[in-house]
Amino acid sequence: MRTVVIAGGTRGIGRALADRLTGWNVVALGSADADLSSMKDTRALIGRLPERIDALVLSAGRFSSRRIVTGEGLERTWAIGVVAKYLLADGLRPALERAPRPVILNLCGVGGIRAGRIHWDDPQLTGGYSLLTMTMQGARANDLLGAGFAQRYPGSPVRYVLYNPLFVNSGMHRYFDQPLRSVIGVSAALFGTSPAKAATPLAEVLEEPPSAPLTALRRGRPVPLPDPADAARFYDLMQATQK
Ligand SMILES: NC(=O)c1ccc[n+]([C@@H]2O[C@H](COP(=O)([O-])OP(=O)(O)OC[C@H]3O[C@@H](n4cnc5c(N)ncnc54)[C@H](OP(=O)(O)O)[C@@H]3O)[C@@H](O)[C@H]2O)c1
Repeated sequence: MRTVVIAGGTRGIGRALADRLTGWNVVALGSADADLSSMKDTRALIGRLPERIDALVLSAGRFSSRRIVTGEGLERTWAIGVVAKYLLADGLRPALERAPRPVILNLCGVGGIRAGRIHWDDPQLTGGYSLLTMTMQGARANDLLGAGFAQRYPGSPVRYVLYNPLFVNSGMHRYFDQPLRSVIGVSAALFGTSPAKAATPLAEVLEEPPSAPLTALRRGRPVPLPDPADAARFYDLMQATQK
């Protein structure tokens, strides 16, 4: 039986995907299983996961309108949505490479939020945090995580898929303050895809991973791959974060 680990599998899109994967051994993780805002907890989690993993889904995230700093000194949105994804992909690569057709599916903003840029000198936005700036930067950062993984492990059988599901009515408006909470909640109910519908193409990616080492999809449609030039620089940034 194939094993899928879904970080962020207790709610929203990750949970809907977990529900769809009949015939798989599903390891669905939420913050009660490990606090992915902590690098220490994330590393400990990696050591507890199965030795062979067919699919890793990176779906954990938590928006915040205020800048919150973790005990390890990281901005929390960045820690969960970028640093933990980096640690999980790299840390679980050996377990993935024991599977015949391994795949990493990273739910992110690829091909959607074009204005996102990395604030190289201050990625944790100490000098000017806003939810929008961090969200846009996070989207760009996830592009570079995928490009960097494919660059660093060119001979690996692991396929990395960056996937933007666009607007999904997952209940994420609960993280926002009013009046934004109501605006996003109503918009998601009117215009968002249901998590169950969003999960259908994601399950297909896991069932039949693409043949290319790196694929970028925006609601199932291919979008240009991230520019690899920044990926190595971003890897250095991730390495520096851990020191
Ligand atoms: N919804 C959209 O419109 C949309 C669009 C594009 C991309 N995405 C991306 O898709 C992913 C899933 O989004 P979603 O809307 O389904 O999110 P969601 O409903 O808010 O679910 C977030 C998941 O992350 C987990 N999580 C949050 N903080 C955590 C922590 N500190 N440690 C461990 N796990 C933690 C939650 O676990 P607990 O609840 O158990 O704590 C939950 O399972 C995110 O990366 C998001 O950026 C979403």
